[in-house]
Amino acid sequence: MGEKLEHKTAIITGSAQGIGAATAKALAKEGARIVLVDMQACETTKREIQEINPETEVLIFNIDIKERENVESVVRETAEAFGSVDVLVNNAGTCSRLDLKHMTDAMWFRDIETNLRGTFLFCQSVIYPYMEKQGSGKIINISSISGIMGGPISGAKGEDGQSGRSGPAYAASKGGVIALTKRIAKEVGELGIHCNCVAPGPVETAITKGMNYKLDQPIKRMGTPEDIAEAVVYLAGSGSDYVTGEVLKVCGGAAIG
Ligand SMILES: NC(=O)c1ccc[n+]([C@@H]2O[C@H](COP(=O)([O-])OP(=O)(O)OC[C@H]3O[C@@H](n4cnc5c(N)ncnc54)[C@H](O)[C@@H]3O)[C@@H](O)[C@H]2O)c1
Repeated sequence: MGEKLEHKTAIITGSAQGIGAATAKALAKEGARIVLVDMQACETTKREIQEINPETEVLIFNIDIKERENVESVVRETAEAFGSVDVLVNNAGTCSRLDLKHMTDAMWFRDIETNLRGTFLFCQSVIYPYMEKQGSGKIINISSISGIMGGPISGAKGEDGQSGRSGPAYAASKGGVIALTKRIAKEVGELGIHCNCVAPGPVETAITKGMNYKLDQPIKRMGTPEDIAEAVVYLAGSGSDYVTGEVLKVCGGAAIG
């Protein structure tokens, strides 16, 4: 068990499963108090955290991160319960696969609202006034290599013949997360707040289930949620105190260059 995040409070969105759940467990292993946020039940993640470290204090909020009031109340109640908000991991996400030709407004808005606006809402709500008042904070936004490369066109087609691994709404939302991260990093660096991105490549979770990845990349395996969690732990801890506005790709070399 590590101590890198002892006495720190970490909010992790989308932590009912997948990368968010693995990240919550990895941060708990380093001693953080954990706040689980998801539309789905998080009791399994909580149980697994407390199996790893029975001392870990855990709060659960079942909310839709697209709603400003929900987001603000999560942050307010976290600060009231734990006294500080030190780490925010914006991980909750959706991925529409339809190509541009078949994209609907509903799919476009879902990915942009969840991935990009949800990240904006949480960043704004933790920074002002909590992290600003503390004079410290680490924000890690989960983007994707789709936000760098535009998303893969090749790969498995869905049964409808219209879908690839990820569509243009997803790519645009994740590219937006990268630009938002850089902009926020410039605004809040002098307040003692760091804001960085992790950009995963293909990772074995519910989002990628049923997709046939060619894995045309130097490291020829799917990533695990734990691979991504380790990068988040680095960006949440003091080892990254001179790093801000960066995009750390964790993708088996799929997006070298
Ligand atoms: N798996 C991959 O290959 C991969 C690659 C690149 C980036 N990512 C990103 O990593 C993040 C986590 O993905 P994952 O693979 O663990 O997927 P996942 O589907 O297993 O987990 C996403 C979680 O987000 C929650 N969520 C979605 N919309 C929400 C909302 N509006 N409010 C609250 N909770 C909401 C879901 O309930 C779910 O628990 C996402 O942002 C995803 O885009 C994943």
